[in-house]
Amino acid sequence: MHNHIPTPEAMQAHGRGFAERAVDGTVIALVGDLGAGKTHWTKGLVAGLGCDAEVTSPTFGLVHEYTGGRLPVFHFDFHRIDTPEEVLAIGWDEYIDREGVVVAEWAGKFPALMPYGTHWIHIEATEDGGRLLWKNP
Ligand SMILES: Nc1ncnc2c1ncn2[C@@H]1O[C@H](COP(=O)(O)OP(=O)(O)O)[C@@H](O)[C@H]1O
Ligand SMILES: [Mg+2]
Repeated sequence: MHNHIPTPEAMQAHGRGFAERAVDGTVIALVGDLGAGKTHWTKGLVAGLGCDAEVTSPTFGLVHEYTGGRLPVFHFDFHRIDTPEEVLAIGWDEYIDREGVVVAEWAGKFPALMPYGTHWIHIEATEDGGRLLWKNP
């Protein structure tokens, strides 16, 4: 099902809604071009879990950890990463095994890294300036 997300605020609200159903071990793969709204969605996720930290895209080779909420969030961004080995070097497998929620922007670059049960969320800009968001499978 495709959701129309008209504004950046609505994108954050969608992330907040998802947070209500997030449990330990939830992994979220965000797919969409630069400026699609992946970081806005993540802001909502982090806020919805009860952490009031400011969310920014992690720079190359870093993971941002948002603690203090119901579950910690580990935020990755594969945009400037070229190989799965570089992701593993950040400690991907360890984060997947830790208690909390993992969210990865540009996850479509390395689908083999995403564990079984990953929630895939696709975001695409529409001509009216809004966004379409859909999940698969
Ligand atoms: N419906 C919308 N949802 C999300 N972002 C939107 C929307 N409409 C416009 N924008 C703008 O698009 C940009 C999305 O930025 P960001 O969340 O950093 O994207 P990404 O992380 O995918 O590169 C922001 O400048 C935001 O204001
Ligand atoms: Mg981003």
